[in-house]
Amino acid sequence: MDTQDQENAYKIAYEREKRARLKAEDLLETKAREIFLQNDQLRENYDLLKKQQSIILQNDKLATIGTLAAGMAHEINNPLAFVKSNIESLGRYHASYSRLVSFIKEVSTHLPEAEQNNLKALFDEEDIDFIQEDLPDLMVDTIEGLTRVRDIVMNLRSFARTQSSDRCAAHVVDGLHSTLKLLNSELKNAVSVKLNLAPVHEIYCNPNALNQVFLNLIINAKHATEGRENPTIEITSRDTPSEVIIEVTDNGCGMPPEVQKEIFSPFYTTKPVGSGTGMGLAIAYGIIKDHEGEISVKSTEGQGTTFTITLPIHATKEIEQTDN
Ligand SMILES: Nc1ncnc2c1ncn2[C@@H]1O[C@H](COP(=O)(O)OP(=O)(O)OP(=O)(O)O)[C@@H](O)[C@H]1O
Ligand SMILES: [Mg+2]
Repeated sequence: MDTQDQENAYKIAYEREKRARLKAEDLLETKAREIFLQNDQLRENYDLLKKQQSIILQNDKLATIGTLAAGMAHEINNPLAFVKSNIESLGRYHASYSRLVSFIKEVSTHLPEAEQNNLKALFDEEDIDFIQEDLPDLMVDTIEGLTRVRDIVMNLRSFARTQSSDRCAAHVVDGLHSTLKLLNSELKNAVSVKLNLAPVHEIYCNPNALNQVFLNLIINAKHATEGRENPTIEITSRDTPSEVIIEVTDNGCGMPPEVQKEIFSPFYTTKPVGSGTGMGLAIAYGIIKDHEGEISVKSTEGQGTTFTITLPIHATKEIEQTDN
C-alpha cells in the first residue's frame, strides 16, 4: 500500500468512527431527554400521590374528629343547660338577698348601738358591700362565658352534622342573595362586594346549611380585607352540565402555605383568643362533603384568597322520588 492509499484508509476509518460517534451522541441525547422527561413525570406523579395521600389523611382525620365532636357536644350540652338555668336562678336569688340586705341596713338604725356595731362588724368581716357590688358583674361574665361555650357546642354539632339535614331542590344563588342581605350591615361600610352571579341549575341540597357555608366564607373574606386598600369581595356563580361552582374571592391578606394546610381543621384559627373559634371552615368543609361536593382554596400571601365550592347537580327529580 502506498502512502496515498494509506491516507485514504485512515480517512475512511476516521469518517466511519466520526459518524458512529455522532450517532452515539445523538442516541445519548435522545435517551437523556427521555430520562429527563420520565423523571419529571415521575416527580409530578409523586407530588400528586403525596397530595392525594394528605387529602385522604385529612378526610380521615376530619371524619374521626366529627364523631368525637358529636359525642362531646352531646355530653357538654346537658350540664351546660342546667348550669345556665342554675345561674339564672342564682341571679334571681341575689335580687332577693339584695332586698334583704338593704332592708337590714335600713332597720339597723333602730337597733341599740352595740347591736349596730356588731352588725357593721359582720358586714365588714364578710365584705357584704363588695359582694353586693361584685355579684352582678360576676353574673354577667358567667352568662357571657356560658354563651360562648354554648356557641362552641352549637358549632361542634353542626360540624358533626347531627342536626336535621332537610333537603330540597333549591337555587344556591337565591341562598347567596339572602346571606348577603343578612350580612348587609356588617359589610356595608367595610368592604365593596362585587357580584357575578349567573343563574345556575338548581340542586338537591340543604339550603340553610349551604347558606352557613357562604356566611362563613364571606365573613372570613371580610376579616381578611380589614385595613387593606380598596377592600373587595367578589362572588361568582357558574355551572357546567354536572356541577354548580361558587367562588368567593377577596383581595385581603392571603395565607402562607403552612396556614392553608390547616384551615379546614376544627379549632384552627390565627385570630386572637376570644375572637374566632376556628370552626368556620371546618363546618363549611363538613357541609360541602355532606353534599358530595368539594371546597378548595387558592391564596397568595399579601394578595388575596379564592375559595371555590363545587357542588354536583344530582338528578333532582329522581332523588326526590326515592326519598319519598
Ligand atoms: N379569606 C381568608 N383570607 C385569609 N385567611 C383566611 C381566610 N379565610 C380563612 N382564613 C384563615 O383560616 C383560619 C380559619 O378560618 P375559620 O373560619 O375556620 O376560623 P376563624 O375565622 O379563625 O374563626 P371562626 O370562623 O370560628 O370565627 C382563619 O383564622 C384565618 O387565618
Ligand atoms: Mg371564620
